[in-house]
Amino acid sequence: MLNFRLQVFKSVAKNLNFNKASSELLVTLPTVTNHISDLERLFNLRLFERFENQLSLTRPGKVLLNYTEKYFSLLRGDIVPPSLLPRSKSQSKSYLHHLVCSSCGKVHPIKKINQTCLSCNKPLITEYSIQHFDKYGLFLRPSTMWRYREMLPVMEDENIVSLGEGMTPLLQVDNLAQTLGLDKLLIKDESLNPTGSFKARGLSAAVSKAKELGITKCAIPTAGNAGGALSAYCAKAKIEAHVFMPRDTPEVFKQECLYHGAKLTLVEGNINHCGKLVEEKLTEEGWFNMSTLKEPYRIEGKKTMGYEIAEQLDWVLPDVLIYPTGGGTGLIGIWKAFEEMENLGWIGAKRPRMIAVQAQGCAPIVNAYQQGLNSSTNIQDPHTIANGLLVPKPLGDFLILDVLQQSNGIAVAVTDQEILSGVKLLASKEGMLVAPEGGALIAGLQKLLSDSAIHPHEKIVLINTGHGHKYLEVMPHSG
Ligand SMILES: Cc1ncc(COP(=O)(O)O)c(C=O)c1O
Ligand SMILES: [Zn+2]
Repeated sequence: MLNFRLQVFKSVAKNLNFNKASSELLVTLPTVTNHISDLERLFNLRLFERFENQLSLTRPGKVLLNYTEKYFSLLRGDIVPPSLLPRSKSQSKSYLHHLVCSSCGKVHPIKKINQTCLSCNKPLITEYSIQHFDKYGLFLRPSTMWRYREMLPVMEDENIVSLGEGMTPLLQVDNLAQTLGLDKLLIKDESLNPTGSFKARGLSAAVSKAKELGITKCAIPTAGNAGGALSAYCAKAKIEAHVFMPRDTPEVFKQECLYHGAKLTLVEGNINHCGKLVEEKLTEEGWFNMSTLKEPYRIEGKKTMGYEIAEQLDWVLPDVLIYPTGGGTGLIGIWKAFEEMENLGWIGAKRPRMIAVQAQGCAPIVNAYQQGLNSSTNIQDPHTIANGLLVPKPLGDFLILDVLQQSNGIAVAVTDQEILSGVKLLASKEGMLVAPEGGALIAGLQKLLSDSAIHPHEKIVLINTGHGHKYLEVMPHSG
């Protein structure tokens, strides 16, 4: 007899031999299995507590399982019945507590509209007063990044602006792993987010918080994806969006903003020039600046990639995590998530080596890393087809470099040619058509393998940040 508390879909349970009186669920296994995951898949069940070593089902037969009726499982695509998401009107579910300057430590209150530190102008970091929050209860939550509700900065549920972002798949890419001679390679596929990139996460969090704070107009400098995501979330939130984008950004990114009703300004130059224009007009226009790390909460949305990777890997982090780094918000956010999860008691002290991949034509972090510096130098005349990586001097450079150092990580640069080869390799081996930023990951991985900076037996996670469809204009297949 197996002793498990079960989560059971009511509809499925009806078809099974479901004995309410004895609190037991009788399950007949039609096939040979010795894995809990097989059992779960067969019966559309989710086990609430796992004692993997105790389960040994080697032949079909009858298995008796204890169940607790109150635990229901929600899988991706299920409609979340409101009754499963208990809400308290008087008490916010968020553990949000205060903002602290990442450089001088000055504390900023959360009820005000904040941008950067009032003393030193550096990015503000969100801190939470962590209480008990049972990770196994996550099974009850919707399949979006808002399943980590307590560790996100929005106080009231009605302010959450969501298009279903997050809980993207962590795909095991065995064909590619075999080609590269690796044991275990996984890709977190962020291209499946609303607007086709991971930017949806940061902007869902930031626009939700802006709504909560009563902000009605905002502006953003963007390499492309963030502008589209801001436009979409602002449309949903009924907030005015002003997007500043380099003129030579692929057409799709411009059209996307226009469709969502944003006001689009095309700029001669790169994202830094866009940022300057936004700053110049802010006060006069009464805009809130959504520029990453000048706005404190985009990082909070992006950190949920770290939470999901842990949850999807059963709370054991990989050995290596590779991230295409422009402004570095995701890298900093994921690292923050790891620390928060350790404080929540969800994971142990093990951390992956964090690896930043940049484009050779714009590699301020790689340069600083190689010189052992803790801040970067502005890149003159930056260029690459991976426009998300076109950040000549990231505001959070010192934070990125700190993560690389703390995690014993590394920074590596790849050429546009290598990026395109990476996109092709992944598309042809795995059926995934990724953004050039995703191609850069494959190229970076190949480089690090040949330098022996990564070992073939390590468990490696790549974060593919965007969809290839948006970039076909700048990366046509050469035949
Ligand atoms: C597809 C894509 N990947 C990566 C990045 C860089 O992200 P981060 O600012 O978190 O380094 C961007 C930023 O625009 C992007 O659009
Ligand atoms: Zn400060």
